[in-house]
Amino acid sequence: MTRPGVGVAITGSGSAVPSTTLSNDQLSQLVETSDEWIRSRTGIGQRRVAQPSVESLASLAAAAGQSALDAAGLEATAVDLILLATSTPDDLFGSACQVQAALGASQAVAFDLTAACSGFLFAMVTGAQFIRSGAYRTVLVIGADVLSRWTDWSDRRTCVLFGDGAGAVVLQASEVDQLLGFEMRSDGSLNGCLTLAYQEQPQSLLEDISVSQGTYQPVAMNGQEVYRFAVKRVPEILEKTLFHAGIDRDHVDWLLLHQANQRILDAVADRLGIDRDRVLSNLVNYGNTSSATIPLVLDEAVKAGKIQPGDLIAASGFGAGLSWGAAVFRWGVVS
Ligand code: UT7
Repeated sequence: MTRPGVGVAITGSGSAVPSTTLSNDQLSQLVETSDEWIRSRTGIGQRRVAQPSVESLASLAAAAGQSALDAAGLEATAVDLILLATSTPDDLFGSACQVQAALGASQAVAFDLTAACSGFLFAMVTGAQFIRSGAYRTVLVIGADVLSRWTDWSDRRTCVLFGDGAGAVVLQASEVDQLLGFEMRSDGSLNGCLTLAYQEQPQSLLEDISVSQGTYQPVAMNGQEVYRFAVKRVPEILEKTLFHAGIDRDHVDWLLLHQANQRILDAVADRLGIDRDRVLSNLVNYGNTSSATIPLVLDEAVKAGKIQPGDLIAASGFGAGLSWGAAVFRWGVVS
């Protein structure tokens, strides 16, 4: 539990997306699909795609991070820890240190955290623990993904779903704890439902020694299985988190869900009995940006003045792993 005086406040948000848009109609030039199918089955109208040599994972993540720091009124040198949730780093050794350098966050330790579409939520909870333990006072949590690199552009079942982007929040030590509850889960027995897997390519080095020199295969998903998992597990974990936090669902101002499919957002809201107009959604513009969806839609709603300081937010991330989690928090600095 929280030590006296070492609570967590979520004090700023930011986001960044590539400048290039890919519409449903443009996609229908690549695969047999239609704007009508994609919109009615997913709610997606377009997505952004990072341009080679122009927009990298680290550059998008750093831009989102800088905008969150600006919103919180902080210099980069005030940051103690940078957590970069991503499954698509520029460098498999991690991209968080590249982001640290780009921001000039010279006092911060930085590392990547991989949990696919649950990554941002898991990173936010992880960052909060460093604050609650008293180890750090300021944590920058970034969710960023460039899944266009790992999309099979000839597979209509997956290529219409994903987009690229980044979002971030600043967590700061606070007298009043605004992170009211969280839950996290994994079920590796369902791992095969959603993968971006390494495929071996054995190469013989010496007579009796080989090494694997393969590469990653594009995203593969059993969409129906993951859909069923999401509409069951997400309401369940949100209910549990709200119950443990002693919060009535009627008091939730905003449902902040991983943006995978509008039908999932609607089903979760209906299951919880939360009005659909309290569900944040920007799928129509960005599609599924994996670990970036939650901070991206959060930041848009904050900048639009929809989310106000003190608003109660119930968030849930879910995806590959399979993994899922929820967090309930109050937005902003509340006096
Ligand atoms: O971020 C990680 C979490 N991810 C998710 O939560 C995704 C969860 N899954 C989903 O959102 C949905 O399952 C999808 C959007 C991926 C697919 O929607 P669906 O309603 O489950 O469609 P389906 O896979 O059952 O396919 C229905 C039909 C099939 O045709 P037949 O076999 O009925 O003739 C597909 O071949 O739609 C066809 N289809 C398409 N048609 C046009 C599949 N993709 C497309 C497409 N355009 N892009």
